[in-house]
Amino acid sequence: MELKIFSNHEELSATAATLLTHVVRENPLAKICIATGSTPTQSYELWVKKMLTENIPTNRLTIIKLDEWGGLPMDHPSTCETYIREHIIKPLKLREDQFISFQSQPTDPQAECARVAKEIIRVGGIDLCVLGIGKNGHLGFNEPAELWSVGPHVVQLSVSSLSHSMLDGDNSLVQFGITLGIKNIRDARKVLVLASGEEKAAVIRTSFNGPVTPACPASILQELPQASIFLDVEASQKLNQ
Ligand code: GLP
Repeated sequence: MELKIFSNHEELSATAATLLTHVVRENPLAKICIATGSTPTQSYELWVKKMLTENIPTNRLTIIKLDEWGGLPMDHPSTCETYIREHIIKPLKLREDQFISFQSQPTDPQAECARVAKEIIRVGGIDLCVLGIGKNGHLGFNEPAELWSVGPHVVQLSVSSLSHSMLDGDNSLVQFGITLGIKNIRDARKVLVLASGEEKAAVIRTSFNGPVTPACPASILQELPQASIFLDVEASQKLNQ
């Protein structure tokens, strides 16, 4: 794991965008797993801009949705689906077959997990997995637990996750979380984790200065040599204290 500290969110986002662009330039068939939330938005905006201005081909790229709010209609403004379509799929003009994505209202959630697991195997695994860190240490919707999760699975969301700003104060329709598992993240060839702001400082400390434990899923990153952790100064301020 390498940890990089940036003086502000803009610098962090610009560097993340450069890395994302580099991955696609080097490998036009890249399979990129995308986290949502507020932290990566600027990185994606800058990435898309670079891809378009540098005319980098995107017709063989695959985007994989990391997680989803189960129970919301797919086209609800708060879904990870809507976020990824608006920020990445539409501006890069990707086809439907370039997007591997959990249904948000699956009739059989377990079968939906098995379908996504198969799809990831079919495309040959994840080349770059972009992640954020939840205030409670979650990665995707891998919530604090007693055991490490494996592949795609359904979870009961914590109160902390249900208060995420993406839901805009209304979590009444959300019934569960559906997410790639820790093994999917471990197996990714490159992992890029973004965290900024003072509100992440405590969880960053627990994740990187504490023990590796499923009670803090982000702590697994300590064991991943392929992981780059990008923090801004505010998020890093409690490290090594
Ligand atoms: C949500 C998302 C995660 C994201 C996390 C952090 O739970 N489902 O994929 O990484 O929140 O979000 P933020 O960047 O807004 O703090």
